[in-house]
Amino acid sequence: MGTYIKNRFFRHSLLVFTGIPLLIWVTGNFQERSLLKESLCIITILAFWQMMGQFFWTRSSRTVLTNLKMSRVVNYHKFIGYICITILSLHPLYLVIPRCFEAGVAPVDAFFTIITTLNQGVVTGIIAWCLMLVLGITSFLRDKLPMTYKTWRLFHGILAMLFISTAVWHTIDLGRHANLSMSILISMLTAGGILLLLKTYTFKKSKK
Ligand code: HEM
Ligand code: HEM
Repeated sequence: MGTYIKNRFFRHSLLVFTGIPLLIWVTGNFQERSLLKESLCIITILAFWQMMGQFFWTRSSRTVLTNLKMSRVVNYHKFIGYICITILSLHPLYLVIPRCFEAGVAPVDAFFTIITTLNQGVVTGIIAWCLMLVLGITSFLRDKLPMTYKTWRLFHGILAMLFISTAVWHTIDLGRHANLSMSILISMLTAGGILLLLKTYTFKKSKK
């Protein structure tokens, strides 16, 4: 852990992908809700922001990743990837857990109402959820897949771009904390991550 804390890229990354969403949340003047609801929301938002950060914790950032071995970069990438996929795969349940402590619609009924209300926000959520699961499973079973490492990495990169674009659309559409500043930053960081990856691909091709 000490190696990461000493690293400037890690500290900047922590500031951008954890500090900024927390700052917007604290200063955002959002409608006050129960501690449980707000905690579940903030866990979802933080996990989502780390997902955007995944694009910068790869070989694409090699030139700025001084004093940090690529193996450590990839270890961090994998660790955050598995943790956040686990957190976000349960996010549809977080929406209804607070109902266990409230009178009114039962949690199970509320869950089915949400996932069967096929508006744009929910559909993009379901698509992002499926893409995220494929991303996690194909990462976990990488050695067992009938493709070379290079092909897998390309497949993983393309899947990550599709996933993050759908997840961003969903978050800006439905997120109660997605105010103007949050939405602009999310769009800029996602575009930055995708452009960085595309630059890695095109740069490699032109070098060949
Ligand atoms: C589930 C756990 C995950 C594992 C085990 C994993 C593993 C890896 C590995 C081993 C690499 C190659 C590292 C390199 O050469 O730089 C990689 C690259 C990459 N990963 Fe992940 N990853 C995971 C999740 C994610 C997620 C959630 C995203 C985005 C939302 C993501 C986006 C990327 C991108 C954009 C690359 C660069 C692809 C390339 O260089 O062609 N990964 N990942
Ligand atoms: C079955 C799939 C999904 C459903 C039904 C769903 C549903 C929802 C709903 C209803 C909201 C609004 C919550 C509220 O008003 O408090 C929301 C917000 C959000 N969702 Fe999803 N979602 C799904 C998948 C995903 C996935 C895969 C991600 C990320 C990768 C994600 C990230 C978010 C984020 C970041 C918010 C914003 C939270 C906030 O601003 O308070 N969702 N989702």
